[in-house]
Amino acid sequence: MKIAVIGQGYVGFPLAQLAAKSGFEVIGYDTNSNVIKFLDNSEPNLKLSDDEALLSDCQIYVIAVPTPLDTQEKPDLSYVVKASQTLAKYVGSNSLVINESTSYPGTLREVIMPIVDPSGVKVLFASAPERIDPLNKNWNLKNTARVIGGLTQEATNKAEQFYATFCEQVCTVSSPEVAESAKLLENTFRQVNIAFINQFTQIMDKFDIPVHEVIEAANTKPFGFMKFIPGLGVGGHCIPIDPMYLVHKANNVGVDSSLIKLSDKINNSMPVYVLNKIISLLGGQVKGKKICVVGLSYKPDVSDLRSSPSLQLWDQLQQVGAIVFYHDNFHKTYQNKKNVNLSESYFDLSIIAVQHGNLDMVQLRKSSHLMVNAIGEKIT
Ligand SMILES: NC(=O)c1ccc[n+]([C@@H]2O[C@H](COP(=O)([O-])OP(=O)(O)OC[C@H]3O[C@@H](n4cnc5c(N)ncnc54)[C@H](O)[C@@H]3O)[C@@H](O)[C@H]2O)c1
Repeated sequence: MKIAVIGQGYVGFPLAQLAAKSGFEVIGYDTNSNVIKFLDNSEPNLKLSDDEALLSDCQIYVIAVPTPLDTQEKPDLSYVVKASQTLAKYVGSNSLVINESTSYPGTLREVIMPIVDPSGVKVLFASAPERIDPLNKNWNLKNTARVIGGLTQEATNKAEQFYATFCEQVCTVSSPEVAESAKLLENTFRQVNIAFINQFTQIMDKFDIPVHEVIEAANTKPFGFMKFIPGLGVGGHCIPIDPMYLVHKANNVGVDSSLIKLSDKINNSMPVYVLNKIISLLGGQVKGKKICVVGLSYKPDVSDLRSSPSLQLWDQLQQVGAIVFYHDNFHKTYQNKKNVNLSESYFDLSIIAVQHGNLDMVQLRKSSHLMVNAIGEKIT
């Protein structure tokens, strides 16, 4: 069976590799020739290409293209639309189109299907949102259950058969809208809970109560509590973005989604909160102070800078006159600055925004007059 995966990014490439490893003949298609050039592919069954002509004669097409927000914080489905327009030229009768890109409920039925197969009878369609957490050592494409909802039972069955060849658990649901909504529920759940713990942190701070100790104490309860850790905010291509897809869809039908919007606002306010903590630790004077932002990416041990709150903090520190440096071994340069060598530097303050596994804490301590964690608490 020949499979095409449209988009070879964080989601599409690992899927294409795994499908190839499982015995499918796979075309990994991406419109960006540089992506194709730099990917390290060792799978003989996987052909990476920016040539759309290779998309003919496939039995299954999987869409894994970006779904960002536009400048007005509204869903930007232009990549999904473009990928669908390309597929419309190549899909054959009874082929199956699966959407893995995250989007609001109704995307498969109202956006993708009308472009790919306006008749709605030639092609099968299913939604199977990707749930991967890149570099998570415990949970991966194989052992994270896949939720699948087809436009028809036949589409659900075919998609189920496909994923069951490499996923240990497949969960079919009654419609693509259920699958699409489940993905938004998962990420909105994280957004809201992270916002709650971030706001709780600010309250504890005013009371002068150590928040991490409070969290660990609450976490001794074996039921009815789930631990979330406060931080500088949320980043990446999922948590700051997906909930806004839900807000958009809710707005369209006039239903209240204010808790989700407020959560976004609280998480976005964290860099300013931490900036104020830093200013106060430095006695109110930041101008000319050497400050090192440690960890530029949005979470430990990945290089991904998308929507990283570390970058927001960097901008804000610069605006108040600090001389900003950074240390992150995943990035040799950023904004014309070089990753600092800790053993050759000395900072008035270092903030560990994100702690990668390879961070040399002993050297950082030697290089920093003051050190703070991601919520601006002094590390002694
Ligand atoms: N990154 C994650 O951790 C993650 C996890 C779960 C779900 N998702 C979702 O998966 C989708 C893809 O995310 P990603 O992180 O892989 O994005 P990405 O930016 O890493 O990769 C997307 C790729 O698609 C390519 N592309 C864009 N338009 C195309 C087109 N018309 N035809 C072919 N290729 C095209 C781009 O060049 C890019 O290489 C998004 O909807 C995202 O929300 C991402």
